[in-house]
Amino acid sequence: MLLTVINSIDMLVFEKTKLLQEKIAAIKGIKKIGFIPTMGALHKGHLSLIQEAKKNNSIIVVSIFVNPTQFDNKEDLSNYPKTLENDLKLLRSVGCDIAFTPSAKEIYPTKIVSQHFHFDGLENEMEGKHRKGHFDGVGTIVKRLFEIVKPDNAYFGEKDFQQLQIIKKLVLKNRIPVQIVGCKIFREKDGLAMSSRNTRLTKKHRLAAPFIYQTLQKAKEKFKTESISKINFWVAQQFKEHALLELEYFTIADEKTLKESFRKRKQKNYRAFIVVFAGKIRLIDNIEL
Ligand code: PAJ
Repeated sequence: MLLTVINSIDMLVFEKTKLLQEKIAAIKGIKKIGFIPTMGALHKGHLSLIQEAKKNNSIIVVSIFVNPTQFDNKEDLSNYPKTLENDLKLLRSVGCDIAFTPSAKEIYPTKIVSQHFHFDGLENEMEGKHRKGHFDGVGTIVKRLFEIVKPDNAYFGEKDFQQLQIIKKLVLKNRIPVQIVGCKIFREKDGLAMSSRNTRLTKKHRLAAPFIYQTLQKAKEKFKTESISKINFWVAQQFKEHALLELEYFTIADEKTLKESFRKRKQKNYRAFIVVFAGKIRLIDNIEL
């Protein structure tokens, strides 16, 4: 009876963990729960994860929580776009069943600190080097959300490929009974990877930003014939000559270990990862090679 009601009424919005847990307890084991954790400021990239989740789950849960412990920069945290009303509208329009919008107190009742994790070294590469403590924050919040939502399947974008690999490790190491599903990067027509941060780009930086994906595509082409060191040099050069975009890093790495590679080996899958500053906005992207 309750489940029919859930399917036929408007999306449920929970701010309180306890109330959501009661609802989950009524559904768990009867209906497949697909979960998409987000920090809000939703865009079509997030919605593509929901579409993917709808294929294999009958209850879709989306969380919206700007997690303070994963920000290494206070300014970035305070400037993070917050568009809750619009987010809830979007979620209703795509048929989300449950939105979870907790306060920081609800998630971190005593102190806003993260747990420390070891992800077999994945946490020390790329974003781990450039954003201290970031993956401890991500691990803490995602583990907590999994405990609350108890999803059967959880969906993460390949846009944050390192995060996706770390979540798979988190689940494995902590024996959390959830299937992690990676989803393709959703892009603007001009190739820029969709991101909540894109709304903060100035007009000229927005116009310049597709250069990032164009460079990744050319690097992929070069990967067929050229050495990694030559490609690294070429990419660095492209950004040195660019007036508006500043390269933070470009790394070709093994998809599994995320360790930087300098030599191509057969039987390994590689990916190119890039972070670029467009003015003050930090943009991240990657491509399968
Ligand atoms: P957020 O940046 O809001 O992203 C939520 C999910 O959407 C992540 O899995 C991210 O990889 C995915 N995503 C974002 N842009 C995408 C795009 N253009 N194409 C495909 N997927 C995209 O990532 C986080 O939040 C947080 O770290 C979180 C996991 C919620 C923990 O706080």
